[in-house]
Amino acid sequence: MVLPMNAILPIPGPHVACIMDGNGRWAKRRGLPRTEGHTAGEENLAEVVRIASSRGIAYLTVFGFSTENWVRPKAEVRHILSLHKRLFGRIQELNENNVRINWIGRPFDEPGARTPAFVQRAIRQAIADTATNTGMVLTVAFDYGSRAELLRAAQRCISETSSTASITSEDMQSHLYSSELPDVDLLIRTSGESRISNFLLWQIARAKVYFTERSWPDLDASEIDKALALLRK
Ligand code: FPP
Repeated sequence: MVLPMNAILPIPGPHVACIMDGNGRWAKRRGLPRTEGHTAGEENLAEVVRIASSRGIAYLTVFGFSTENWVRPKAEVRHILSLHKRLFGRIQELNENNVRINWIGRPFDEPGARTPAFVQRAIRQAIADTATNTGMVLTVAFDYGSRAELLRAAQRCISETSSTASITSEDMQSHLYSSELPDVDLLIRTSGESRISNFLLWQIARAKVYFTERSWPDLDASEIDKALALLRK
């Protein structure tokens, strides 16, 4: 099944990726259920999108839901999925900010894919409704795992060649879920963890990495500016 996604043209400006960690701890510190932390995380993502496009970030890629996240308690998974529907439904503000939606993850029709139909619909609709925007590309990684992406790319390269020795980096790039996105320039991870968590392993090969103690719901403009300063060093 091919998504109705027009080609993503190169845009000047950096590619920033975010591992949005710490929603659960943010909620716990306030005596709230974890789901409230995710709700605050989705709201802050909408704010981060506004800040990022105002700072001239060309591509913002966020880790919305990993292939490992399905094992979380059912109610929490349901809540996170509903937040994706909410995010993909923010068409008016995305259009106001000239932001184009994109998605990467396990293709919906491949073995092991678990994305429910209502999330698939929300993704397709948001891609279609923002397709003519020319500003920042917001890519949401949903049902995403980098090793699965790399294994799939390697398998496709091998099936296309009679000599594995001739496979190039460009061949691999062309088979990534994110084949149309440039390499990541800056990776930000919130909440004090300094791990990569199977996110964009190929794409971050030359990225600067910014780890902050801030929880995702508290990531604000001043912290984003500190991270962006790494690109000038
Ligand atoms: C980490 O918090 C975040 C996630 C599991 C991803 C979900 C992100 C959101 C719901 C933010 C909104 C984003 C979208 C795309 C709708 P955690 O539960 O691991 O926090 P913890 O480490 O403090 O427990």
